[in-house]
Amino acid sequence: MEVVIVPDAAAGGELIAESMAQLLRRKPDALLGVATGSTPLPVYQALAARVRAGAVDTHRARIAQLDEYVGLPADHPESYRSVLRREVLEPLGIPMDAFTGPDGTADDVQAACEEYDRALAAAGGVDLQLLGIGTDGHIGFNEPCSSLASRTRIKTLTEQTRIDNARFFDGDIAQVPHHVITQGIGTILEARHLVLLATGEGKADAVAATVEGPVAAICPASALQLHPHATVVADEAAASKLKLADYFRNTYAHKPEWQGL
Ligand code: F6R
Repeated sequence: MEVVIVPDAAAGGELIAESMAQLLRRKPDALLGVATGSTPLPVYQALAARVRAGAVDTHRARIAQLDEYVGLPADHPESYRSVLRREVLEPLGIPMDAFTGPDGTADDVQAACEEYDRALAAAGGVDLQLLGIGTDGHIGFNEPCSSLASRTRIKTLTEQTRIDNARFFDGDIAQVPHHVITQGIGTILEARHLVLLATGEGKADAVAATVEGPVAAICPASALQLHPHATVVADEAAASKLKLADYFRNTYAHKPEWQGL
């Protein structure tokens, strides 16, 4: 995989937003897979700035959701559908009918998961999937020891993930759902380009395990090593435990600009 070390989160956001903008110029109806959480916000802000400046046209772009809480009504402010409407669709001027995501309120959750995998395939597959990473190495909400071949399904969040996400629920862990629907690791690996952004010291162990550790279910993000086009963008703090940091810096410094991410 390619590892790009950037000075800070804002620089990571600019780099990935530019890569998304280039994709949309090549393929205006590209399907962008988006994550929630704090990490991707600089990407969405940098892409929205390009839209406002007229540097990229998003009117045919399509958006696919990575994961969703089970049991939160779609209009709950912290349902990932609501978060993505606020943080991605509205700022980018993309209508809700260009959005696809799993139904976290379905009576038959398993059927909703299978339906979502079919919908992604019918949409032609995800062109670029943006990922964050959990402190435990999760991608989407594939917690440690998720099958590396898993499909979209219901997962139980670890206590650590619920603690990490309590900040979105007034700091009250009791309000954080226990269950989520997440694209499986096998589903995620079907996207044409995977871009994982990691920022802050708290992600340094997970990034080291992802990039330099063995491919192992204990670190779900290590599955990116199996993908032919995976890019990890890490700020200095998140990259601080990489043994090969200098090699990655040198490689990227000598990469021809036309190759993009
Ligand atoms: C959310 C998601 C999760 C987050 C991860 C990191 O859609 O897929 O994997 O990316 O929990 O969250 P933040 O960015 O808030 O540290």
